[in-house]
Amino acid sequence: MVVAPWMASWALSAQIFGSHNTPTYAAISTDLAERPEPGLPEQPVLVLAALRKASLEGRATDPGSGDIPATRADARRLSEEIDAAIDVGLIQYTHPTRLGDILPGLLLASRWYDGRPLRVVDLGTSSGMLLLAASMAFRFPTGDWSPPDAFDVFEHPLAVPRALLDTPTTLESAVGIDLRPLDVRNPDAITLLRSYEWPGPSERSEQLTRAIRVAQQRPPHLITGDVQEVAHDVIRDRIDKEVVTVVIDSAFSHYMLMAAQVRLGNSMDGLAGHGPLVLITRGMNANREMGRATVRAIDLHRKRRLVYAETDYIGESPEWLAPWPSEAATSRWT
Ligand SMILES: C[S@@+](CC[C@H](N)C(=O)[O-])C[C@H]1O[C@@H](n2cnc3c(N)ncnc32)[C@H](O)[C@@H]1O
Repeated sequence: MVVAPWMASWALSAQIFGSHNTPTYAAISTDLAERPEPGLPEQPVLVLAALRKASLEGRATDPGSGDIPATRADARRLSEEIDAAIDVGLIQYTHPTRLGDILPGLLLASRWYDGRPLRVVDLGTSSGMLLLAASMAFRFPTGDWSPPDAFDVFEHPLAVPRALLDTPTTLESAVGIDLRPLDVRNPDAITLLRSYEWPGPSERSEQLTRAIRVAQQRPPHLITGDVQEVAHDVIRDRIDKEVVTVVIDSAFSHYMLMAAQVRLGNSMDGLAGHGPLVLITRGMNANREMGRATVRAIDLHRKRRLVYAETDYIGESPEWLAPWPSEAATSRWT
């Protein structure tokens, strides 16, 4: 283990956990950065998730409890399963209320295309929480998103413009792709999903519990596969001039190598020639500010975009960015 980058990685994570209301993970990460644990990998999120999974299965202390000596001891004892989790390498963190800031992008797609039905394809979908817009209602400070068949209502602090919330929207279909989709009707998938949760305010955990219940009642359509191999055909099959195909890339594509990201972008540009194709993406903050991610809707077919929201990395503390009405704020490019 090369100690300097290892320490830097744990110190950076301490900072990120600290600024995301996850103090126990911040404290453990700081302690490890100061006194490295020989043999422990340098991917804090995956290491802590592996330990948390063992705790959810009753085989370790929850690293979220803040008991640093116990976590160190568990890390030594469970080194093989930590290494195995690193080999798999998947971070499947999903904050269910991330759907609240994807939703304005869906409404914008409807608005851009005069209410044509939406066909959603979610890349790196994990448990498919972002596919549940027909089943989750949201109460924003400015108004509500209330689909007729909503199974539960979530509070969301994003100030989505009222006029946008009033946009008539039809969700025709929604499908998600993941290397390892988590079907929460399976208890092992719930354990895995929960293992990635960042311990913090109790609402965070409660929201996940409620969202799992929604997904159990309204199971999203999940496809197992590598986005690099299957996304092109899944999207192509859903493009039609009479509908809008909406592709969501939320906390996903930055996990791919740069060359793969470029290939995906080129493939989407090619597909946009066949019909309306809107990308909703959660990516780096416009000022490249640490800890903040920007959410934007990009119409690849008619070449216009709106950078509309900013959140922290896990989808909390959202802020509305775009002036309204959107037509004035939607920039076009040629
Ligand atoms: C951090 S999670 C994001 C989940 C969800 N999109 C969200 O925003 O809450 C990233 C997801 O991408 C998946 N993933 C990573 N690489 C992938 C690939 N090449 N093809 C398909 N899924 C992939 C992981 O399994 C994981 O579920």
